[in-house]
Amino acid sequence: MSEQNTPSAAGAHTTNNGAAGTETSAPYGSTAPRRRTRIHHLREYKRRGEAWAMLTSYDTYTARIFDQAGIPVLLVGDSAANNVYGYESSLPITVDELLPLVRAVAGAAEHSLVVADLPFGSYQASPEQALHTAVRFMKAGAHAVKLEGGRRYADHVEALVAAGIPVMGHLGFTPQSEHGLGGYRVQGRGDQAENLLADARTLQEVGAFAVVLEMVSSDAAKRVTGELEIPTVGIGAGPECDAQVLVWTDMAGLNTGQTPRFVKRYAEVGNELARAASEFASEVRDGQFPTSEHGFD
Ligand code: KIV
Repeated sequence: MSEQNTPSAAGAHTTNNGAAGTETSAPYGSTAPRRRTRIHHLREYKRRGEAWAMLTSYDTYTARIFDQAGIPVLLVGDSAANNVYGYESSLPITVDELLPLVRAVAGAAEHSLVVADLPFGSYQASPEQALHTAVRFMKAGAHAVKLEGGRRYADHVEALVAAGIPVMGHLGFTPQSEHGLGGYRVQGRGDQAENLLADARTLQEVGAFAVVLEMVSSDAAKRVTGELEIPTVGIGAGPECDAQVLVWTDMAGLNTGQTPRFVKRYAEVGNELARAASEFASEVRDGQFPTSEHGFD
């Protein structure tokens, strides 16, 4: 009898060897042992109509927390450019800056599938360049990589998949092409829908295991999701995608700036940290901290 994974009812994590249905895991509270989520499980979830969540993570603590919370896929996104390094956009971040973050997340995540983003300039030149960069991330512990773009990167994706590296695509608004796209604009409306669909079909044909749809009209995202066998992971792409991704600092309210319309804030971690920091400072000022219980005889 084949075992089942469930992304939502139990935090769906599974392990091992690629044969769909032979391994199991259960993320959120099941008594079944939780194992590593594998790419074939994500396809199973789609076949079963079970939606799942992906979060970004850039460090050990959040990776451990999200992993234990049953998030099946963690993305070490190039959004670390803004969220870790304080750059204005994702363009400046380098492979060398992202690698240590991938090591930290992969080292802490026992069950989640860890996807490393290939940063701007690290794969576009050729399939060989893409392979060289992806290998560095896999050696750092990633289980898969993500790259932005559709048909024009078909050969790149094919080369990675042939080398045994799972690839997640990224279509719609692709932040690394912000200037080429003319700024933050919703994609896939009107005539653009056919192009989006053609890109998504090609990514599936060349072996991508999933595709992120960012800031895509809900209708176009629904169409792509309906046509593909591989899962779509939406961010600002409506409720019909197979999965949803959010940047953790947005989702948890650590980012105190304006958040995009497609973000829901599930906590106010920034406010809580600010409260803790100012309470600490005022207790030090007033001589309330430390007390004898925090010292040594
Ligand atoms: O880098 C990132 O965080 C991403 C997500 C928005 C999908 O690519």
